[in-house]
Amino acid sequence: MARVTTAALIQMKQQGEKITMLTSYDASFTAALEDAGVEVILVGDSLGMVIQGQETTLPVTVDEIVYHTQCVNRGRRNALLIADMPFMSYSSVERALDTAELLMKEGGAQMVKLEGGAEQLPVVEQLSANGVPVCGHLGLLPQSVHKLGGYKVQGRDAESAHSIKEDAIALEQAGAKMLVLECVPSSLAKEISQTLTIPVIGIGAGPDCDGQVLVVYDMLGITPRYMPKFSKNFLEETNSVPEAIAAYVKAVKAVTFPSAEHTFE
Ligand code: KIV
Repeated sequence: MARVTTAALIQMKQQGEKITMLTSYDASFTAALEDAGVEVILVGDSLGMVIQGQETTLPVTVDEIVYHTQCVNRGRRNALLIADMPFMSYSSVERALDTAELLMKEGGAQMVKLEGGAEQLPVVEQLSANGVPVCGHLGLLPQSVHKLGGYKVQGRDAESAHSIKEDAIALEQAGAKMLVLECVPSSLAKEISQTLTIPVIGIGAGPDCDGQVLVVYDMLGITPRYMPKFSKNFLEETNSVPEAIAAYVKAVKAVTFPSAEHTFE
């Protein structure tokens, strides 16, 4: 795999080639993802739940993301490395710049991801102006779980669908280089993917996004909690972790994953 850049991902979108993305938190999994051809690796704050056993992603700290990003970066060769900005670490432009500095300088991240739409535009603009590539995250926002009242599908009524679409357009205009859409109806995700120039990566957002992302422990069926509807245990049909990751890559590229059973209407 050639070195993955934001320009290369936009080219994949233009050519209709699906982008594969998975989370990773350590060097060994990262090397396995690279071997399978996964183009984008996310050090997600999901590590709070799958590594630390926390109830939510909220307790995860910047230092913890830096540590796991360093681990992942040591196992990385050519995939693009994104690190999550933890809860409250971008509550002002100043905090966001400090957090991004740590994630990129100390962790080795090449892009940072943050949750939210219109309210985050000044942060996205300033990060972009300072050379920090930003991945937005709309739809279900795990860091706002207490505000949302649970992990629920978002954008089901016309008003919230409109607001998610407007946020997506505004994030791109503010300089975001990629967007994750989580748990939204597939028709909305399709519309947003077709509207934006930047790649839209779905998780529980149907097959028409420009790419897919899953939490790696979910797609191996080892997450110590319920399996989300939108995920699939790829280890079940294969004989090893490398084969399971390869099956995920193949299924995303062939658009056989996500299928109707993993999709919200
Ligand atoms: O934290 C994470 O792993 C994420 C993915 C679910 C997209 O944000």
